[in-house]
Amino acid sequence: MVTMNRNKVVVVGAGTVGSTVAFGLVSHGLCNEVVLIDPNRTRAMGESHDLDDGSEFFDRHVNVHVGDYADCANADIVVVTAGRRPPQGSNRLQELGFTVGIVGQIVDDVMASGFDGVLVMVSNPVDVMAWYAWKRSGLPRSQVLGTGTALDTSRLKTIIGEETGLDPRNVGGFVMGEHGDSQFVPWSTVSIGGKPFARFLSDNQDRFSSVSLDDLERKTRDRGNAIKDAKGGTNYGIASTVAGIVQTILWDERRIVPVSTLLDGEYGEHDVFLGVPTELRANGANEIVELDLTAQERERLHHSAQIVRTYCSGLLT
Ligand code: 2OP
Repeated sequence: MVTMNRNKVVVVGAGTVGSTVAFGLVSHGLCNEVVLIDPNRTRAMGESHDLDDGSEFFDRHVNVHVGDYADCANADIVVVTAGRRPPQGSNRLQELGFTVGIVGQIVDDVMASGFDGVLVMVSNPVDVMAWYAWKRSGLPRSQVLGTGTALDTSRLKTIIGEETGLDPRNVGGFVMGEHGDSQFVPWSTVSIGGKPFARFLSDNQDRFSSVSLDDLERKTRDRGNAIKDAKGGTNYGIASTVAGIVQTILWDERRIVPVSTLLDGEYGEHDVFLGVPTELRANGANEIVELDLTAQERERLHHSAQIVRTYCSGLLT
């Protein structure tokens, strides 16, 4: 059973994403201790000292240092960010061959410490890696999750804000499914200002005639690749997503977040991790919110599930 002391988060991988995750945890003072683990210990040391140097200007001092897998024994959360800068034009599922071996060893090393906290998977393809980490770790389903479509949901709200000029926080709703090309927006459940989004657009044709649901969904789905083409990869969006998930868990905020979690009958799906609205508590991922999806939206979720399951098959043999 996980007992949160808001104390210790281990970040595995001190590359661009991992070090930005650590910066989010330290600058927001989300925990008392952040441990960086990376095969390149020199790089991890540099990141750790660089992070520490800002402590005078942070709200509270966080003990950030380099460590090893023994540090996971009493960690509340372990964040796995191992991966590489994806090749140009590749999609996240194509990262599986590079990532799976590394993640498998990381999960074994974390579990060998006696870890019994929450495992937050970031490495892509994140839905497949979350399922694999759950199977390999033997942890309860609540204690293994992936960032899922939480980042995509933030992107959707941001892009709606860009297109309408309204504050993204006015938008209610989620991107669901794979954190990848088969993700989709269940528009029937998306609202803005408390009004169904499609109705809001049709009631304001004069202001929003150029806004289309298909365009918004496509821009959201393609956002990660657009950023990758511009700067070689992403880090701030995903790191902020991780910081939000860590905060919700450590502070037992009970937010509903579309993390990648195990579907065990929900939405009619089994043995697959997908981004669905999930109640996050101190012990990790809990109840899944089953939205009233249209038949077409359920079919899109099922399509996403089939893709992710396909990439999971054979990983344990
Ligand atoms: C993204 O979409 C890293 O997959 C992550 O930015």
